[in-house]
Amino acid sequence: MKIGVFDSGLGGLVITRAFIRALPEYDYLYFGDSRHLPYGEKTSGRILSYTLSAMRYMISRDCRLIIIACNTATSIALRYIQQRFLPCEAPGVKVLGVVIPTAEVAAADNAEKVGVVATTATVRSHIYRAELCKLNPRLGITELAAPALVPAIENNDFVRAEEEVRRLAPSFAGCDSLILGCTHYPLVKDFFRAALPSVKVVSQDELMAEKLADYLHRHGEIETALTRGGSRRFEVSSLNRRAAEVAARLFPEIPIQKAAGL
Ligand code: DGL
Repeated sequence: MKIGVFDSGLGGLVITRAFIRALPEYDYLYFGDSRHLPYGEKTSGRILSYTLSAMRYMISRDCRLIIIACNTATSIALRYIQQRFLPCEAPGVKVLGVVIPTAEVAAADNAEKVGVVATTATVRSHIYRAELCKLNPRLGITELAAPALVPAIENNDFVRAEEEVRRLAPSFAGCDSLILGCTHYPLVKDFFRAALPSVKVVSQDELMAEKLADYLHRHGEIETALTRGGSRRFEVSSLNRRAAEVAARLFPEIPIQKAAGL
């Protein structure tokens, strides 16, 4: 039984890399739904439907624990998956998201003002606002959608990505912490840190491995069900040359493959 990591594209490989470094003994399946990227500009219905298909596929490939690394899919689909889908279709499987662990880190250290930069769908869901308010109802929260950032990163256009970060940064200048609420943004975290030197920039590649280790520590029934062969398999729903190049940059030693039958 494997640990599955799901994202709408390849951005989640950055989080997978952190998991594998911290917890190398487990078997991993990565699945990126590159055919339907970007999720962030799609309707909630489509995001839910694509995410459910991905869950069915990963469960059919023996994933016992799945981390939805995609903030957009977490925002729109996680609750439905946990409350409706899993009890009916896969009661033994656990699916976790990235929003609550990220909000916990952002709200720590007596933060008073927290910024959130994310896709249009994530901001529209106000999931970060809701989770941050549960942690501290007095928090000041600024949420901003950055629809131009994912295409710039996907196109390897880091000049444009940096310009976009500089344009967004002044909106977060008064914040104590800033949540990079999208799997692609760890790739531009240095731009955010340079533009906002006094803000704690919360990047999911730096926090999720510790949260996963802690989860496994607290859930022995899941941990013992996971196999420890150290295998890794990275798959996408649509494979093109650019995707293969991005994946090869992040993980030169592991080839990315087209998921069979999808
Ligand atoms: N993976 C998505 C997220 O974390 C960003 C890319 C997309 O729009 O699909 O929100």
